[in-house]
Amino acid sequence: MSSDLAIAHQSSPRPGLKIPGHIGVIMDGNGRWAKARGKPRTEGHIEGVNALRRMVELCIRYGVGHLTVFSFSSENWARPRDEINFIFSLLRRFVASDLQKLIAHNVRVRIIGAREGLDDSLRRLIEDVEAKTARNTGLNLHVAFNYGSKAEITEAVRHIARAVAAGELLPAEINEGTVERALYTSGIPDPDVIIRTSGEQRVSNFLLWQGAYSELVFVEDNWPDFDEHTFLRVLDEYAMRERRFGGVEVARQ
Ligand code: FPP
Repeated sequence: MSSDLAIAHQSSPRPGLKIPGHIGVIMDGNGRWAKARGKPRTEGHIEGVNALRRMVELCIRYGVGHLTVFSFSSENWARPRDEINFIFSLLRRFVASDLQKLIAHNVRVRIIGAREGLDDSLRRLIEDVEAKTARNTGLNLHVAFNYGSKAEITEAVRHIARAVAAGELLPAEINEGTVERALYTSGIPDPDVIIRTSGEQRVSNFLLWQGAYSELVFVEDNWPDFDEHTFLRVLDEYAMRERRFGGVEVARQ
């Protein structure tokens, strides 16, 4: 796997583009990309990491504030053990090969998802990446790993219930802010747009609460093929959507 996170700061974004503050991505189709080329699924995941690098570069160049990528879902535990191990090894390799470049480009990395079920060395790696990038103020890269929205909301409910049981909170005091603060994404703005690649049109337990008003953009390309051309098509689609947030006119940007 090559380490080629190379950000071309000199190229200027297309004028007139509407840049989302937060993009979520369901990176789907690695397996199909590989199958179409007669390659093992693992090759598709390797190319998936390269596409992730491209996406990080694009978000930096175009000034996107937050990027959240779905890299391992709670449901992915149902995959063959070998494939699970491979995806876990990809996270380690991504960190090993790209951490210094991410730091150099002022990227803050956070891993959102359940830490239970991850072995100690992976937990330490996650803590290390988060600590080493915690002061960075550029792109916020959120890697959803061992993430599932229903599990996240369930955990938030448990957290709030404990506070109520301890007498720290009255049920009547619970509002949307209470729930938001108990989610993994506490303090992170909601995604403006959620992209899913590979032609599938589902949200698959990704940012269900946070994505309540996100624009959903489905693209036919498999994730390993995602490039600047696809990125710009998504931004064009996003710019065309009228955003009402339940009101009758654009209430906020
Ligand atoms: C979707 O393709 C991809 C995944 C389930 C996870 C793998 C994600 C990556 C390799 C990107 C970066 C990962 C890390 C850890 C930084 P699929 O296998 O569901 O494809 P298919 O639907 O065509 O079978």
